[in-house]
Amino acid sequence: MKADVLLGLQWGDEGKGKIVDVIAPKYDIVARFQGGPNAGHTLEFNGMKHVLHLIPSGIFHERIINIIGNGVVIDPMVFKKEILDLEKLNAHPRKNLFISKRAHLILPTHRLLDAASEAAKGKEKIGSTLRGIGPAYMDKTGRNGLRIGDIFSPDFKKKYNFLVEKHKQLLALYDFKYDLKEHESSWFEGIETIKEFQCIETEKYLNDALNENKSVLAEGAQGSLLDIDFGSYPFVTSSNTVCAGACTGLGIAPNRIGKVLGIFKAYCTRVGSGPFPTELNDATGEELRKTGNEFGATTGRPRRCGWLDLPALRYAVSISGVTDLIMMKADVLSGQDTIRVCTHYNYNGQKIDFLPYDLSSYPLTPIYKEFKGWKSDLRNTVSALPQQLEDYISFIQNEIKVPITLISVGPDRKQTLNRSGVLV
Ligand code: GDP
Ligand code: IMO
Ligand code: MG
Repeated sequence: MKADVLLGLQWGDEGKGKIVDVIAPKYDIVARFQGGPNAGHTLEFNGMKHVLHLIPSGIFHERIINIIGNGVVIDPMVFKKEILDLEKLNAHPRKNLFISKRAHLILPTHRLLDAASEAAKGKEKIGSTLRGIGPAYMDKTGRNGLRIGDIFSPDFKKKYNFLVEKHKQLLALYDFKYDLKEHESSWFEGIETIKEFQCIETEKYLNDALNENKSVLAEGAQGSLLDIDFGSYPFVTSSNTVCAGACTGLGIAPNRIGKVLGIFKAYCTRVGSGPFPTELNDATGEELRKTGNEFGATTGRPRRCGWLDLPALRYAVSISGVTDLIMMKADVLSGQDTIRVCTHYNYNGQKIDFLPYDLSSYPLTPIYKEFKGWKSDLRNTVSALPQQLEDYISFIQNEIKVPITLISVGPDRKQTLNRSGVLV
């Protein structure tokens, strides 16, 4: 069996959590492959709304094994809180959640370093979620990090203190006040919680499962335009969010990847700093934010909103080899008289149809094609979609050359349609 991969094609928050939860019943295993508690994946069903940060979005399906892969960075404090919250909601994470021994830990000092670095950058800040992601991945690639496997070692405390000393020296370079003691005790309580879980060689577990014909869905976090290599650097996150990240973040070989499900919103959003060619700094942008409830699931920050950007979408699709597209939040566009889609950019005086390397140093203006909007409230759609939406979908499919197989028309599990307009 091959593993399918589900990932975001924009700047995150496309609705990955919702779709993983919806399609999870088709799989035996759901495995998160990168990122950490910077992610906020929202699930809604049976009148309940729940946001996951570290735990894979298949967790509410008791039969399905959920895996936190080696590519993820784990903050034990966030982990413990998520587990307690899930247990209150009748999920059974102690039964169906496994953690990779190779996943790296986010220390309280990583969070402090994130905050100190952002404060020092002032106006140039990345707009990080301040969850310690960048500093934790820096220690991973710098070969200083602590891993889940280390927590079982008798010298874990010694290793921890050694790294914290290093961090204190770095923190001294910033004009930044902090109180480390405040967080350390709950961090170590979180470590004790993690020890109660099955911490295993998840790469072996996953490859054995594939050999036994079990089905695996790899769940991405963030989005392709936040990828450390291919995103709008330096305004990116610190991991590979593209499909290749599923191989390195889970230990699944490229030739074992099956479908690549790419998720995008029918428009665009971005939270944090950095270029956003189709951003709407006007009443329409405000309206999309309000109708789409575009506020960060992790930080609560308002998301920047804009029209769909096809050159950027095409770029994300090509880098990950997306085989199926899933279009989210079509309902948010209901009521717009005109819907615009960016087909090209005017870049430094030239018309181009691709995402250039540098989005900031030269004048870049989007060139739009206009579509007629529709009036009907899609959230209750159980039959045919309005013709105007069909036209919009056909245009995107033709431009990107990948079929749109699912359309989401509301936050609830049940508000998901296949291309025949039938509920999934
Ligand atoms: P993720 O990080 O990709 O999992 O996405 P988030 O959970 O951060 O953000 C998506 C938001 O949109 C959440 O509040 C979802 O409940 C909501 N959502 C998902 N799909 C739809 C949809 O089709 N329509 C509407 N209106 N909201 C949706
Ligand atoms: P999900 O999985 C949207 C953004 C931050 C910031 C940049 C770097 O919910 O889609 P970091 O904390 O990683 O150092 O922040 O990346 N960012 C996200 N934006 N959705 C996310 O995750 C994000 N995770 C990080 O806002 O601009
Ligand atoms: Mg999110």
